[in-house]
Amino acid sequence: MQRVNLIPGQLSFSRMVQGYWRLTDWNMQAQDVVRFVEQGLELGITTTDHADVYGAFSEEGMFGQALKLAPGLRDKIEIVSKCGILFPCERLPDVNVVHYNNETDYIVSAAERSLRELHTDYLDVLLIHRPDPLMDADAVAEAFSRLQQAGKVKHFGVSNFSAAKFALLQSRLDFPLVTNQLEISAVHSDYLFDGNLDYLQQHRVVPMAWSCLGGGGVFHDFQYKALRDCAASIGEQHNASLDQVLMAFVLALPCQALPIIGSGNIERVRQQAAAVDIQLTRQQWFSLLEAARGYTVP
Ligand SMILES: NC(=O)c1ccc[n+]([C@@H]2O[C@H](COP(=O)([O-])OP(=O)(O)OC[C@H]3O[C@@H](n4cnc5c(N)ncnc54)[C@H](OP(=O)(O)O)[C@@H]3O)[C@@H](O)[C@H]2O)c1
Repeated sequence: MQRVNLIPGQLSFSRMVQGYWRLTDWNMQAQDVVRFVEQGLELGITTTDHADVYGAFSEEGMFGQALKLAPGLRDKIEIVSKCGILFPCERLPDVNVVHYNNETDYIVSAAERSLRELHTDYLDVLLIHRPDPLMDADAVAEAFSRLQQAGKVKHFGVSNFSAAKFALLQSRLDFPLVTNQLEISAVHSDYLFDGNLDYLQQHRVVPMAWSCLGGGGVFHDFQYKALRDCAASIGEQHNASLDQVLMAFVLALPCQALPIIGSGNIERVRQQAAAVDIQLTRQQWFSLLEAARGYTVP
């Protein structure tokens, strides 16, 4: 599997990333998670995506149990996690409204909680999960610098940020933000046209792409029937399945977006990882876009 440099000589990710948002739904014990990570490594997938908020603040703990069982895995993977979203749940008894918190002390304490949950002493990358209208960029910069100096987090990035918000935070840092994790797919094509991916390409920042398969909706939702038909016909020409064709759609982007696989089924992971070998023609790519959106480009 190809690797992509986020910071040459310092940080590289596997071209396909494994997401763990749905881990708590996968009915896995710690030993199963160990095996799942190992099978990913056999495919060359080293980068893992997490967030404190996943599984109502229990996903990182589950993954951490696997690292506790097999500590040797830690050095073979990159751990990306996120912070900043809070919502009412058992783990947060004092929270009564969904909100964001990106104040200095909160970010530091959230990252420290992630370290404890994940049974690790460092995160490779910490992302601010959502753009926060109350975000003070200087406060975020202060948190990042404290975490970096303490060796608790090596690199930082953001998720779901506009280009303007990315530039704002970057302007307060003396090291580069390494990624903006965005929803990018044939069925969510906003970022292809709003300048966000162009900004990242301009600054050679590699985005991570979430929900490349529409969160699973592409397989059954009525609204995606035309997309399924189009992908089936393109798939025949490449001997590829629907999920592979849609991953290839994201992989074709010149910003080198890194698709995050959301499946907990290793056969599907294997299939989707193989999409790196599929090269869509321009006409196939635009056919998928048209089928997903229901109209042609101008
Ligand atoms: N930064 C953010 O705000 C944000 C938001 C959402 C997600 N993410 C990250 O992105 C990752 C991927 O997102 P996602 O889970 O929505 O990805 P996705 O690939 O769009 O959807 C995954 C879902 O599709 C199903 N699926 C996959 N292949 C299938 C197939 N061949 N046939 C039928 N169903 C299939 C999976 O079920 P099975 O498990 O049964 O295969 C799973 O439920 C997450 O794990 C998370 O790490 C980030």
